[in-house]
Amino acid sequence: MKPAELQDRARAPGPSDDFMHDVVEGLSRAQKTLPCRYFYDTRGSELFEEITALPEYYPTRVEAAILRDCAPQIAARTAPGSVLVEFGSGSSTKTELLLSQMRDLAAYVAIDVSASALEDARMRLRDRFRGLRVDTVVGDFWSAEIAPDLAQAPRVGFFPGSTIGNLEPADAQALLKRFAAVLGEGARLVIGVDVMKPASILIPAYDDAQGVTAAFNLNLLTRANRELDADFDVSAFRHVAIWNEAKTRIEMRLVSSREQVAHVGGREFRFAAGETIHTENSHKWPADIFDQIVLGAGWEVAEHWTDPNQLFRVLELRARV
Ligand code: AVJ
Repeated sequence: MKPAELQDRARAPGPSDDFMHDVVEGLSRAQKTLPCRYFYDTRGSELFEEITALPEYYPTRVEAAILRDCAPQIAARTAPGSVLVEFGSGSSTKTELLLSQMRDLAAYVAIDVSASALEDARMRLRDRFRGLRVDTVVGDFWSAEIAPDLAQAPRVGFFPGSTIGNLEPADAQALLKRFAAVLGEGARLVIGVDVMKPASILIPAYDDAQGVTAAFNLNLLTRANRELDADFDVSAFRHVAIWNEAKTRIEMRLVSSREQVAHVGGREFRFAAGETIHTENSHKWPADIFDQIVLGAGWEVAEHWTDPNQLFRVLELRARV
């Protein structure tokens, strides 16, 4: 399918992707917010790839190690002719751990907001897995466009990286319900989730010594300046990562270093010195809390794996129908 056709199709329900609207709306609230899905422009996606290689950012490395171990078991339960559907595939690096074990897939469907990331991944996978059909869908993970000729194929969803942790519990449950609807009866979902651990490990993971995460967070303002003709003084904001104990989540914020005004979309936004823009939540649910979210969304935990230090979990869910 050509990208233009994809864009013409009706959008799936879920969060909007109207950057201007969402920025103006978010900054109009008493607690200013900007949605974290806008981190991933070209520069943001590059910075995120750098984050995944940081010594302090354990999730990517640990999850990959777990997947390396459990991929053969997951593959053994995957019937020939199945479709692997990844929500927010990015560089599809972890996917290779599954693909290298899975035989005779009907297709790998990669869904991501970044068309360039999808193309890079498609090229790489074509070289490594000759004969594998790769369908790409430009969109957020609420939009799943699975080709009609794959309608009857058994489906395995893949949602690694603890991206689910960006959502409040109720929204996480709604997204998992949506995945169940998209993947259909008898589906399985392989999902990676971070777990609660001491703030002394979590804070550096989201506020690294090299300042890559700070650059990632601040890039949101740079993107608004470029794409929305906003006039944020990016140098007058600084990145912070806070552990919210009650909600068991890391919050990333941009703190205004001084009293200032920024303009976006013909509107004026005032910042007091020390005022924050809340840009991301990254939940670290205790295992039993996450398992409850899963159950309420129509899935059950079929298998689960962790690393020796129990820093991260990979779950294989089965649709409860
Ligand atoms: C890709 C959403 C899982 O929350 O850990 C990394 C994004 N933010 N460092 C996360 C992120 C700051 C990441 N997710």
